[in-house]
Amino acid sequence: MKKVLLIIVAILVVVVGGFTVFVLVSWDKQYEAEYPGITASTDSAMIARGKYLAYGPAHCVICHSSIEKIEDVAAGKDVPMTGGMEFDIPPGIFRTPNLTPDPETGIGKLTDGEIARALRYSVNHMNKLMVPFMPFQELSDEDLTAIISFLRSQEPVNHEVKPSEYTFLGKAVVAFGLIKPEGPKKTPPVSVAIDTTADYGAYLANSVANCVGCHTERDMKTGEFIGPVFAGGMKFEPDAFSKGFSFISPNITPDKETGSMTGWDEPLFVDRFRAGRLLPGSPMPWESFARMNDSDLKALFRYLASLGPVQNKIEKTVFNPGENFPD
Ligand code: HEC
Ligand code: HEC
Repeated sequence: MKKVLLIIVAILVVVVGGFTVFVLVSWDKQYEAEYPGITASTDSAMIARGKYLAYGPAHCVICHSSIEKIEDVAAGKDVPMTGGMEFDIPPGIFRTPNLTPDPETGIGKLTDGEIARALRYSVNHMNKLMVPFMPFQELSDEDLTAIISFLRSQEPVNHEVKPSEYTFLGKAVVAFGLIKPEGPKKTPPVSVAIDTTADYGAYLANSVANCVGCHTERDMKTGEFIGPVFAGGMKFEPDAFSKGFSFISPNITPDKETGSMTGWDEPLFVDRFRAGRLLPGSPMPWESFARMNDSDLKALFRYLASLGPVQNKIEKTVFNPGENFPD
């Protein structure tokens, strides 16, 4: 009996040990991806476009500054993108880098190609994978150029941010290839006509502002979409930012019965975005979105109104601290 037990324990030790060794030696992979042919420009219209995107619809500033500055974003201030925000999630602690042009601690040492590749292919300047926080793979070449041109034009700020750290779980997920660098799903456009059309709204909602990424039900381990797009249902567990509240995103398709915008017209939609954050702790980056211009908001409204209605009842979107999600 004792001998059998010993053998079982020995097998377990070998299996667990082998698994651990495999994860530890293979998680820290180098990835390859092409460098998009993007060169920053010093043209003032280009820089202004990049700044609008970074503070507004693309909301870079929400993650690449500190939570204490979020009110300043809402107030329309040029909050410096010095990084340092921490996302403490099961795969690791992910920290946003300093995006000001400081040569020591910021993007001053990165080439345009490295920054462009990070955004388009999720491979950072060290050739390492980046976990999918930034769904900007299909930004147009022109907008990618505008954003990088703006980043280069900022005042450099010396601010050291510690690198991200993976937990063992995170390392295992990467070692087994469950997370891989995301590239574009279709060829990104060279440029997109900026207008109040539903077409431009589609670009904003899917490739710039990530409305689709939060308003679609997803598998929380892999990030895959498991529900109809824009029909809501993504769950947000309580975290440091949410003040203990948890959230489920509403259905923003134009379904008369279950859509959260039933009865909204264009002016009301614009006003709702102008009002900014109403619910403390909501993950939606309202502070940045409140800075979107009327033309972009109209385009978004027209696009959402043009979607096929999806019946998906989301009973409740906000849950008090300690309250559980429904099954
Ligand atoms: C939802 C949060 C979030 C948003 C929004 C966001 N970022 Fe990031 N960003 C991160 C995180 C987290 C990392 C670090 C990822 C890691 O360590 O794996 C990062 C890393 C980066 C890097 C580092 C690349 C490198 O080589 O080290 C760049 C450049 C960057 N972001 C630019 C941007 C720009 C430009 C925008 C807006 C268009 C943006 N980010 C929006 C969270 C965000
Ligand atoms: C990071 C996740 C996230 C992103 C990105 C996001 N949303 Fe939301 N959204 C939510 C959550 C969660 C709620 C429910 C809490 C709230 O109302 O703030 C919500 C609420 C809403 C509401 C209902 C507001 C109300 O007062 O009834 C609308 C409309 C909406 N989102 C539209 C959009 C559009 C359009 C975009 C893209 C421009 C977008 N969202 C991007 C997570 C997100």
